[in-house]
Amino acid sequence: MRFNITVIPGDGIGPEVIDQAKKVLQAIGEVYDHTFVYDEVLMGACAIDETGNPLPEKTLASCKKSDAILFGAIGDPKYDNDPSAKVRPEQGLLKLRKELGLYCNIRPVKAYDALIKNSPLKENIIKGTDIEIYRELTGGIYFGIKELSDDGKIAFDGCSYSVEEIERMGHLAFKSARNRRKKLTLVDKANVLETSRLWRKTITALAKEYPDVEVDTMFVDNAAMQLILNPKQFDVILTENLFGDILSDEASVIGGSIGLLASASVGDKAALFEPIHGSFPQAKGKDIANPLASILSAAMLLRHLDLETEATVIENAVQKSLELGITTQDIDSENDFTTSKVGDFITDYIHNQEDSNIN
Ligand code: IPM
Ligand code: MN
Repeated sequence: MRFNITVIPGDGIGPEVIDQAKKVLQAIGEVYDHTFVYDEVLMGACAIDETGNPLPEKTLASCKKSDAILFGAIGDPKYDNDPSAKVRPEQGLLKLRKELGLYCNIRPVKAYDALIKNSPLKENIIKGTDIEIYRELTGGIYFGIKELSDDGKIAFDGCSYSVEEIERMGHLAFKSARNRRKKLTLVDKANVLETSRLWRKTITALAKEYPDVEVDTMFVDNAAMQLILNPKQFDVILTENLFGDILSDEASVIGGSIGLLASASVGDKAALFEPIHGSFPQAKGKDIANPLASILSAAMLLRHLDLETEATVIENAVQKSLELGITTQDIDSENDFTTSKVGDFITDYIHNQEDSNIN
């Protein structure tokens, strides 16, 4: 089959890790007879440098007509350290999420047996952890009214949610829980925030449509602690935009490295796949960044295109690379395989699959 993929390498290590994901997709195409046609476009700091706009029209147009989007990373320290910058790389990603209606961000968190020794957490606590974080992505404080008083001494960020925004997220999270271990934990701050009380009321009402799923609620401060104390209690975590952003970085410690966490951002019309890590500017151009989160994002992309076997082969290859210690520095400082070597290993594994199918 033939698929049109918009590729947005972005900033920092984005292009390096996306190159590996493309290499892996190329191998999948060769073995399973698919053609991936790429349209490579700009977003983020590189787009500002070239066009003055973090999300050029051309990028948005390409995303709107492709079958799926593969994205690397965004951000540049020259903007982080300039609070008065009017145009920022991150605005590109936020605008893209909003314009494409990518309201649901799915972040799987797994403790790989081969990496348990790499986590600062104890084996008996994390072994067997398998969580899916459902983070709302186009609402909340990220997209509320922002203001700064004329004298620059008072800043305001508004947070709002509608029943409709909560319900559409809720349905997706409940459906996922239904196909997993049938438990959904709503994480909020309903003891303080009005928006959280609306989440609680809406999700509690929605739960009646999913009687086979057990629903639990938890305040976000407690959830931050529980994720480290007893992560196995969670199956699907459903939460708002900001809480989901924070908790998913925290949860990455369970997996051994943030360089392993992939994500899918989906809406009713489009889907984007990206690693959850940032642009890691210190590593740019050094061929040391972990490409596995991007490669696993490519696997999620294939699954979205209904290529289940192909997605599973990539996941098996990643598992194998971890077992054999073919990993980058973030996972094991003794083992210093480069970004491209890890990508080569995954690519070879996929080709070897073909050989073993033939024999
Ligand atoms: C993420 C990132 C983004 C976010 C930034 C780059 C805007 O941290 O995808 O988690 O906060 O959503
Ligand atoms: Mn984040």
